[in-house]
Amino acid sequence: MYEFIKTSHSHLAWVLLAVLIVAILILTISRFSKKPFSAPHLKVALVGMIATHIQLLLGLILYVISPNGIKNLSGATMKDSFARLLALEHPIMMILAIVLITVGYAKAKKAVGTDKAYSAVTIYYTIALILMLSRIPWQVWMKG
Ligand code: HEM
Ligand code: HEM
Repeated sequence: MYEFIKTSHSHLAWVLLAVLIVAILILTISRFSKKPFSAPHLKVALVGMIATHIQLLLGLILYVISPNGIKNLSGATMKDSFARLLALEHPIMMILAIVLITVGYAKAKKAVGTDKAYSAVTIYYTIALILMLSRIPWQVWMKG
């Protein structure tokens, strides 16, 4: 179970980062082509948000069952930068990023038809992406 969820979380991370980057690019190009923000544009943002929420669900399960998650919270963990990353910094920063994505999407949904919708998705998703990239455990990702 642990290995399965961990591998899924690890693979979905690739999909998620790709989907967010593609969404930001598509919407930026579309905006500069002076196309109004319409339903298909919202779908592009929705794909990013759904991928993010599935990753949240997997992450929360992982946090409970992994030996590197909640079970590893202790004073000694705080002194070890890699253990602290997995048990604390990664989960907190990712949840913050997921909140930003959800807020950006919700704002875009309310502003369909206007340029505000483009700004909502591109700004919130870009900040979320930067936060995610800052707290991925690169040392171990895809190394077994
Ligand atoms: C721990 C798991 C999850 C939490 C805490 C969570 C939380 C949320 C929150 C707070 C919203 C915003 C509600 C709003 O303001 O309208 C939302 C919307 C949404 N979530 Fe999740 N979610 C989770 C898992 C999932 C999963 C697994 C999926 C898809 C497979 C998903 C798909 C969606 C969709 C499609 C919407 C927005 C629909 C819309 O407004 O158009 N979520 N979720
Ligand atoms: C949504 C953005 C997220 C991304 C892009 C992401 C990405 C990753 C990646 C790439 C790894 C390394 C996997 C490997 O070892 O190959 C990882 C591990 C981990 N993630 Fe996430 N994650 C996200 C959200 C979360 C959330 C919300 C939580 C918990 C609340 C979480 C908990 C964990 C834990 C505990 C590990 C360590 C698993 C272990 O080594 O035992 N992640 N994550």
